[in-house]
Amino acid sequence: MTAGAGAATVCTMANEQTLIRMQQVMLRYPTGKTALSGITLDIPRGQFVYLVGESGAGKSSLLRMFYGGVRPSSGKLSVQDTDMREAGESRIRELRRHTGIIFQDHRLLFSRTVFENVALPLRVQGWKTERLIPRVRKVLEYVGLEDRLWSYPEALSGGEQQRVAIARAMTAKPAVILADEPTGNLDIETARRVQDYLMDLNRQGTTVIMATHDLQLLESHPGRVIQLHAGVLVGGDA
Ligand SMILES: Nc1ncnc2c1ncn2[C@@H]1O[C@H](COP(=O)(O)OP(=O)(O)OP(=O)(O)O)[C@@H](O)[C@H]1O
Ligand SMILES: [Mg+2]
Repeated sequence: MTAGAGAATVCTMANEQTLIRMQQVMLRYPTGKTALSGITLDIPRGQFVYLVGESGAGKSSLLRMFYGGVRPSSGKLSVQDTDMREAGESRIRELRRHTGIIFQDHRLLFSRTVFENVALPLRVQGWKTERLIPRVRKVLEYVGLEDRLWSYPEALSGGEQQRVAIARAMTAKPAVILADEPTGNLDIETARRVQDYLMDLNRQGTTVIMATHDLQLLESHPGRVIQLHAGVLVGGDA
């Protein structure tokens, strides 16, 4: 869906339907750079959302605010009914337990094997090793790395590391996946397979919010498009 009339409808819906609500949000980094301004936006639960816009438009900054990596400088942002300007660190940690994050720069643990990296969100939830092994194997199959379970990240190519990061974000089937250009370094076939799996999770109820420069993806895998330009919303959601 697009905003405008659609967003107005969403605003009147029950709160539990709204995952993210932004009103006149502005983000200024300590350097003085204003990365986002005047962002008013609702994202209902269950949507598949693409964030598009030129390099520097503010896509990563927007995603960062959604997991509490940066706080809005002004305006209102609520994520899962949490005021992200006021929330304490323990509430932010709790939110992240239900959120799979695929960072633009992967952020794998280089001292742990592929298996342990991907198992991490399940271990945080208290899964026992024997139960988590089949799940970890399955998500690694989706990204084509089932034979690299015991490798360390430094022995993997950039695209392979990215696929481990994708598998890690998916493994606990979180309520929300925030993905920052997850398929940017992948070949077309692997990228489409990862995209299919994200869509599959979305059909099972996971909200997916994904920054991308891959405009062909929008044609083959349709979703709501939120377009940013120089830190402001443009196009359908402006
Ligand atoms: N930590 C930071 N400190 C200061 N300025 C930042 C920081 N991170 C990003 N910026 C600036 O904020 C603006 C938005 O950056 P952001 O990373 O959100 O863009 P992006 O749309 O994700 O770009 P790309 O497509 O290149 O990843 C840019 O001008 C960038 O230089
Ligand atoms: Mg970015």
